[in-house]
Amino acid sequence: MILRHDYGTPIPTGAVVREVPASTAPFPGVTVEAGDGLCLRVSLSPDDIIWGLGETVRGINKRGHLYRSWNSDEFSHREDRASLYGSHNFVIFSGPEKLFGLFIDDPGLITWDLAFTHENEAVITLPELGQSVYYLTGASPAELCRQLRELTGPSYLPPKWAFGYIQSRWGYASAEDARRVVKNHRERHIPLDGLSMDIDYMDGYRDFTWDEALIPDLAALSAELKETHVRLVPIIDAGIKQEPGFGVYDEGHEKDCFVRKADGEEFSAGVWPGLSAFPDFLRPEVRAWFGEKYQRLIRCGVEGFWNDMNEPALFYTPEKLAELREQAAALLEKDAPLPEWEKLKQPSSELPNNMEDYRRFYHRLQGKTYRHDRVHNIYGSHMTQAAAESFAAFRPDHRYLLFARASSIGAHRYGGVWQGDNSSWWSHLGLNLRMMPSLSMAGFLYTGADIGGFSCDTTGDLLLRWLEVALFSPLMRNHSALGTREQEAYRFERWEDMRNILTVRYALIPYIYSEFMQAALGNGLLFRPLGFDYPEDDTARRVEDQVLFGHGVMLAPVLEQNARGRHVYLPEDMLLIRFRSGEDFDLEALEAGHHWVEAQLNEVPVFVRRGSVLPLAAPAESVDELNFTDLTPVGWVDSGAELRTPWYDDDGVSTHPSLAENLRQISIRAEGDTVEAYCPGLTLHTDCLMVE
Ligand code: GLC
Repeated sequence: MILRHDYGTPIPTGAVVREVPASTAPFPGVTVEAGDGLCLRVSLSPDDIIWGLGETVRGINKRGHLYRSWNSDEFSHREDRASLYGSHNFVIFSGPEKLFGLFIDDPGLITWDLAFTHENEAVITLPELGQSVYYLTGASPAELCRQLRELTGPSYLPPKWAFGYIQSRWGYASAEDARRVVKNHRERHIPLDGLSMDIDYMDGYRDFTWDEALIPDLAALSAELKETHVRLVPIIDAGIKQEPGFGVYDEGHEKDCFVRKADGEEFSAGVWPGLSAFPDFLRPEVRAWFGEKYQRLIRCGVEGFWNDMNEPALFYTPEKLAELREQAAALLEKDAPLPEWEKLKQPSSELPNNMEDYRRFYHRLQGKTYRHDRVHNIYGSHMTQAAAESFAAFRPDHRYLLFARASSIGAHRYGGVWQGDNSSWWSHLGLNLRMMPSLSMAGFLYTGADIGGFSCDTTGDLLLRWLEVALFSPLMRNHSALGTREQEAYRFERWEDMRNILTVRYALIPYIYSEFMQAALGNGLLFRPLGFDYPEDDTARRVEDQVLFGHGVMLAPVLEQNARGRHVYLPEDMLLIRFRSGEDFDLEALEAGHHWVEAQLNEVPVFVRRGSVLPLAAPAESVDELNFTDLTPVGWVDSGAELRTPWYDDDGVSTHPSLAENLRQISIRAEGDTVEAYCPGLTLHTDCLMVE
C-alpha cells in the first residue's frame, strides 16, 4: 500500500507516473514536523537495517552515516563523502517490528542522518517545503521496491549488445585509436562489443561535433567497426561551448534554450570546452531541441551514448573566479605568517561546484521559475530524458544504449547510470559491489562502475579481480582517466586470465539478459541484499560483501589484494561454481554455513542455490555471435524433483517486448542416472548438472 503526503506545493519532478491521491493518514513509525522545511524522524531498534539511497558511499546497510541528496561531481569519491553523482531518495526500514519504505519526491537538497548523530534515530531533513512523500508498506522489501517501480515507472531497456564488454579510456581520440584498440582485442580473442569515445573525439569539446582531422568519416568508421561486431559509444556533455559561430550554441541561444541569471543574462561556467552555456533541460522544448542533436551521430550509425557532466559539474564561473581573485589578493597582502601557497590553497579549492554558483541561475518548469539549487537533482535526469525521447522519436522500434553520470529516480525509465569517477583502489571494488543492490532498488538496473578504476594507476591483479566483480554487472565497461596507466586488458601480463574471465561473462550473457529483462519488465530487482531473501537469518541480513542476483545466484567475489580466497556465508545449501573460463570450471556442493572458499587470482566463485540452475552459452567474442538457444545449465538438482526456472529471450532491440510472450520455462527432471532438460526452442545439455 502507498500513502502520499504533500508538503507545500510539490515541485513537478517527473519522477512519478502513477497518481496516488494525497492523504492525511499518518505514516506509522514516522514523526513528521513540517515548518519552513520538513523533518522526518524514525526511531530505530538496535536490529533495524536501512536499505536504499542508490548511488552512495559505504555499506549496503546505510545505517550509521550521514548522506546528502545533492548530485555532486565527486572526482575520486571517498568514504567520507556525503553525496555522489545521483540522488535516489528511497529508503527501506526493516527490522523485527518494522518494514516500510519512504520515497521523497523532491528535486533539491535532502540530508539523511541515518543514525549518525543518534545511534537509534534516523532524521531526514529538507530545508524547504514543496514535495510529496510516499510511505510504502508491503509483505517484503522486494515488494516495496516493486511498488516504487509501479509508482515511478518501468526501468530502461538497453539493447542486447550492451551486455557485452565495453572498452573505454579518456584519451582515445582518433579513428586510428579506435581501430587499434579493437584490433588488439580481436587479435587476442578478447571479447568486445563496444568502444566508448571520450571528449577527445569532439572538435574542441563541442557537443555533437567530431574532430574531422582525427575522424575523417565517422559513418565509415562506425560501419567498419560494426563489421567486427563493435559499436561506438560517444560521450555527450551537458555544457555547450559558449562560442558565437558554433552552430549548436548559436541555435540554442537564438531559441532561448539556455539557463539565465536573475538579470536575464545567459549563465556561463567553465567546463571542458571552456566557458559554456547550459540547456534548460527541464523545459520540453529544450529537451526536444537538444535531443534532436544526437541524431547527427545516430545518422552515422551510432547506437549508444553516455551523458556526462550533468550534475551539472561547474569547474568555475567568471563571477566566482573574480571573487576568489580578490580574496586571494587580500590574503596575499595580509601580513599573516602563512606561506603564499597556503594562502592561495583555500580560495582555489572553492572554485569547482560551488553552492553560490548553483544559486546564480534559473529554470522554467511548468510555467514557474525555480532557482537552480531548488531543482538541482533533476537536471541530469532531464538531460537523459532529452536523449531518450529523441531516440524514441527517431526510431521508435529500436533500443539505444544510454547511460549517464548524474541521475535521480525517474531517470531509470530513460537510461542507466555508471557509478562515476572511482579510483583504482581495492576499497572501490567493494563499493562497486555494494552499490549494485542499492541502485537496483531505485530502479537503475543497467549499471556498473569503471572497471579497473578511473583515477590512479591500476595493477594487473586489481583489474583481473575487478573483471570478476563485474561479471554480472549489466554495464561492463573498463574506463580510465587521462594520464593514468593504460588499462586495456591486453596491456597486462595476465591478459589471458582476463580474457578467460571475459569468456565467463559471455557464457553468462543469455542468463544475465534473461534475468535483466524479467526484472525490468516485471518491476523486479536484479541485485538484492541477502536480507531480502533471508529475512529470518540475521547473519545473512548483515552480510555486506555478498549479493544475490536474479533467480538463484549469489555472488561473493574476492575483494582483497593478494587474497587467494575468501570467507563466504551460505544461508542455504548451494553449489559453488569456480570459474576459470566460460568452459573451464569446477563444481562443489556446499552446505549452509560458513566456508573458506579458495579462489586464485584467475578464479571467480559463483554460487547457485540448490534447486536452481545457471544456463551457460558457448562463449563468443561478441553478443552478435552468441548462440542464445544452445545452453548448458549448471546446477545442483534434487533427484526425483522437477526443477523449473523462468527463461526470457527476445530479439534484443525491440522497444516494447512482451514479458508474457517471451517468457518460457526451463524444466529439469532428474531420476537416478537419467536427467532430462526441456524448454521450447532451446537445446539443453545436461552434462553439468549435479544430481543428488
Ligand atoms: C568526467 C567523467 C569521466 C570522463 C571525464 C572526461 O570526469 O566522469 O568518465 O572520462 O570526465 O570526459
